Amino acid sequence: MDKLELREKINSVLQNKIEKIVISNPIKKELGIRVDISYKQGYFMVVRYTEKQSFTSNIKEDELPQILLEFVDNFKQFNFFNNENEFIIKISKNNKIFLNKLKNKSKINTFKGNNRTKNYIFTEGERIEPLIDMGVFTKEGKVVHSMYDKFKQINRFIELIDDFIKNYDKKSINIIDFGCGKSYLTFLVYYYFKFIKNIDITITGLDLKADVIEKCNETAKKYNYSRLKFELGDISEYKPTEPVDMIITLHACDIATDYALFNATKWGVKMIFSVPCCQHEVNAQIKSNNLPIITRYGVIKERISADFTDIIRCNLLRAMSYNVDLIEFIGFEHTPKNLLIRANLTEIPKNIRENYKKEAEDLMSAFNFNQTLHTLLLQEKLI
Ligand SMILES: C[S@@+](CC[C@H](N)C(=O)[O-])C[C@H]1O[C@@H](n2cnc3c(N)ncnc32)[C@H](O)[C@@H]1O
Repeated sequence: MDKLELREKINSVLQNKIEKIVISNPIKKELGIRVDISYKQGYFMVVRYTEKQSFTSNIKEDELPQILLEFVDNFKQFNFFNNENEFIIKISKNNKIFLNKLKNKSKINTFKGNNRTKNYIFTEGERIEPLIDMGVFTKEGKVVHSMYDKFKQINRFIELIDDFIKNYDKKSINIIDFGCGKSYLTFLVYYYFKFIKNIDITITGLDLKADVIEKCNETAKKYNYSRLKFELGDISEYKPTEPVDMIITLHACDIATDYALFNATKWGVKMIFSVPCCQHEVNAQIKSNNLPIITRYGVIKERISADFTDIIRCNLLRAMSYNVDLIEFIGFEHTPKNLLIRANLTEIPKNIRENYKKEAEDLMSAFNFNQTLHTLLLQEKLI
């Protein structure tokens, strides 16, 4: 094969803002069966698959041509995608090189996460007017650079909701977004249910900040989103006027998440999607006489405290009869606070629920701390 010719062909294809490359048709499977390369805002992520494992690395944009050439000794096909086209470079049995260009039928979008089998709900280029007002999209429908991580988190958050509500058979849904802040998530959840799922949604965003609540209400009114409303208030004091089907939180600070989970469990809310943040409460208390090493190093103490907080929350939700998953919902590079608690109300036998509670309490007493959700549930005699 003429490597110079191949290099030229690859370089000419790379002039086309390539977002994804799939390298396949291996000569020796032992050296790898496929390679996926995807563009990630300033770098490329390379995932090399063997039959049993995958290996991920990130490379700079200018390293891409060289990396591609390194794969030509083992692979015979390179499919390059941008939003419009697919370019296929094939190396034939007698080492001839062919280049074809097709319309991209798979509509690759740039907002795919590590889970490559699923499409995000919203794609760049889609005009969602309120989000242009709110500075998430440009007028052309492109994601504003500084909003990219937030947009990605929200997309993934809604994708998880989408997975979860596949069997939702009611025509309406009532959701509360606790600690909604600037409410990008709230608007997109509204848009998703109302315009994509055709479900009559009522959604309330609650926050302590008067200015954001006022602005969000104005934006909702401007677009006639009549059942999207925002209220000023503290999660710990909030009382719903209608039965609530789902609560969501995205980075509600510290124990605000506990109040949100407490409300949901107390009201018997069926579905919970909660991404916790700034778990300071446990970090301020945690100590262990038997295992001082656990709390010796500040940065590790902070991480462990955050993890302890979230596993206790998960166990307490189980103790309240929820099925619970703790999911790393997005890559760490988009936010270090990337765990999502997903819970749905079910029936769990009493002895099993009590055991979940005991496990949580054993951890709390081993490391000498209290935890707000636990305290609230005990106070109300719910556990
Ligand atoms: C980090 S921001 C996240 C905002 C939004 N969910 C997002 O992801 O963009 C956390 C928000 O929670 C709100 N918050 C914190 N404690 C609260 C409480 N007790 N009641 C209501 N809102 C609260 C804050 O005012 C802030 O807007």
